[in-house]
Amino acid sequence: MRKGLKPSYTLHKNFRLPMGFPPENWDSGLTYQAQATDTFIVTYPKCGTTWTQHIVWMLSHDGELFPVGKNINLEVPHLEEVGNDFVKSLSEPRFIKTHLTYDLTPYNPNSKYIYIARNPFDCAVSFYYHTQGFVKYYDFAEGTFDDFFECFINGEVDWGDYFDNLVSWVQHKNDQNVLFLTYESMKNNPKMNIVAIAKFLGDNYLEKIENPQILESILHHTSFTNMSQNQSRWSSQRPANMTPFIRNGKVGDWKSHFSVYQTQRLSQKLRIRTAGTEAENLWQIPE
Ligand code: A3P
Repeated sequence: MRKGLKPSYTLHKNFRLPMGFPPENWDSGLTYQAQATDTFIVTYPKCGTTWTQHIVWMLSHDGELFPVGKNINLEVPHLEEVGNDFVKSLSEPRFIKTHLTYDLTPYNPNSKYIYIARNPFDCAVSFYYHTQGFVKYYDFAEGTFDDFFECFINGEVDWGDYFDNLVSWVQHKNDQNVLFLTYESMKNNPKMNIVAIAKFLGDNYLEKIENPQILESILHHTSFTNMSQNQSRWSSQRPANMTPFIRNGKVGDWKSHFSVYQTQRLSQKLRIRTAGTEAENLWQIPE
């Protein structure tokens, strides 16, 4: 029988980092002093980070088009990838991406934190294609979904266990400086969620989207169809034979990937890990 393939990672302290992420940037990123003017976009990987980075970028640029030739990760940088000095070099107010659990995320009672949760089934599938496609980071081009599923359910992937991240943040869902959204709700009603983000960011952002042209521009340009264009704006290059980074953006895509047994196992873990927390009612748990 074929032995399960595993992605390659840089092992650093207790973490798995994508190869190519400098461990020293990880360490310095974790020491960043959060500023009162900062807004963090927090997710477990593949839960709608880039989409939200784009929304906040457009909100802070009056609905302007994100230019081809720029990369969102230099504008709304990934803390653990670029480290402390890079983030500090940006002028305030800063928008900062992170995949850290609550306890590791730099905290300031006046900073804002937008957390996006996505159901673990679609997250696992999306993370599989991500890991397969970034060949230079993971060396997993030949890996199957079944191979990846075992790593995902055991938390043996970069940024660790999905549930550690979700549960750490859901406990702060109702904090006044946390806006807790779901990918599924953003798909279902993007306008409502863009308005919620603007409101959370403050009156000057809310005023911007009171201009219907700005709101329409944000809605239009942050749609899946438009973000599928000129994808070099969102990520580094992937080999042409791999799925694109902005891949299919669906809710329920997992159904064409999971076996009955895999569904039972992840449902069981979802039930156990979220019991007694507000995450237990976020999604209907498949049987
Ligand atoms: P799929 O792989 O399921 O298509 P992240 O930015 O956290 O890495 O998340 C990537 C996931 O969000 C991918 O999911 C991607 O297609 C999806 N996504 C990105 N932009 C989107 C948009 N504008 N609308 C819906 N989904 C989007």
